[in-house]
Amino acid sequence: MKTHKIAVIAGDGIGQEVIPSGIEVLKIAASQGGFGLEFTEFPWGCEFYLRTGRMMDTDAVAKLMGFDAIYLGAIGAPSVPDHISAGELLLPLRKVLRQYVNLRPMRLLPGITSPLAGRGAADIDMVCVRENSEGEYCGIGGRLHNGTEDELAEQTGIFTRRAIERIARYAFQIAAARPRKLLASATKSNALQHSMSLWDEVVASVAPEFPQVEYKKFYVDAIAARMVTHPQSLDVIVCSNLFGDILSDIGSAISGSLGVGPSGNINPNRTTPSMFEPIHGSAPDIFGKGIANPIAAIWAGAMMLDHLGERASHDAILGAIEKVIGSASVKTPDLGGSATTKEMTAAVTAALAKPGK
Ligand code: NAD
Ligand code: IPM
Ligand code: MN
Repeated sequence: MKTHKIAVIAGDGIGQEVIPSGIEVLKIAASQGGFGLEFTEFPWGCEFYLRTGRMMDTDAVAKLMGFDAIYLGAIGAPSVPDHISAGELLLPLRKVLRQYVNLRPMRLLPGITSPLAGRGAADIDMVCVRENSEGEYCGIGGRLHNGTEDELAEQTGIFTRRAIERIARYAFQIAAARPRKLLASATKSNALQHSMSLWDEVVASVAPEFPQVEYKKFYVDAIAARMVTHPQSLDVIVCSNLFGDILSDIGSAISGSLGVGPSGNINPNRTTPSMFEPIHGSAPDIFGKGIANPIAAIWAGAMMLDHLGERASHDAILGAIEKVIGSASVKTPDLGGSATTKEMTAAVTAALAKPGK
């Protein structure tokens, strides 16, 4: 039997609550799909930092290289500055492990009421293809004359032809495989005249390889508005690191809740493990109440199986999610109900165990 080795970093806050839900579902999917999943948990995150002064082991990357994929909850807690928790775990892993694509489906599932009046599932079905290795998140910069009147901060954005080209090509491929075959590129070349004009030129240079895809560029402010006013006109959106972060929270919110949107940090070359996580954070405002919506984490787990070649099991989990959400009988508070994380998880595992019933 084929066994996939999964590194688990549940992390902080509700990551600790939703990752166990995802693992429960993944185990059932594996037993039904006839493959094995071997989970190894790593206690990295903010509590680890408070104990050791490090967000993860010094040889964390070497350890992770021994796995087929990484399943991550969320990183960040009020006890540790966020630029440390993100900057010493999440963002370095995405970069060092060459996960240059951040793939974020943004889809309104039937049964969820969007905060956008009158919008149904047919109107909101998008995918964000976020550049995940450089751009505004390259981390280059510094501060000087701290605490004085002359204090300054510099934060550099790095955009390379190589990284823009590979993310654009990936996004065109995703668009080409979808029914509507639309690709929108989010830009800001009117104000960011150097970086974003390179972005525009390189994305446009890839377009002729995909004549079947209808490609259009939008300014990021306008596409943010369009996601709210005309979401049905959007399909795949390719964007820089920061723009994708913001647009995917909008996409998740209009899909009903931040508790729904999944994401994959993917190295398409497969030379390193890819990492799957909900798009949401550690939600300190609800942590410990047992009411976090586990759907985003479960869906991210399904994306992980798809990446590992277990497409049928991905589809089975999605089917179970759709069945539970579609019946509208079990809803966590973010979706307007009063179900707990455990109740929502039990509903999904039951639906998975008895497909078609
Ligand atoms: P957040 O996503 O944690 O929470 C934003 C809002 O959405 C909160 O009101 C929260 O209760 C709600 N929410 C999020 N996930 C939910 C779920 N599954 N079910 C129900 N409601 C949910 O964002 P934030 O408050 O800006 O950040 C909190 C911490 O998380 C910070 O430390 C931040 O740096 C970190 N963060 C980490 C990641 C990650 O690990 N990938 C992502 C985003 C934020
Ligand atoms: C996300 C998060 C991270 C990001 C933060 C925690 C650095 O918001 O995964 O969307 O901006 O990428
Ligand atoms: Mn984000």
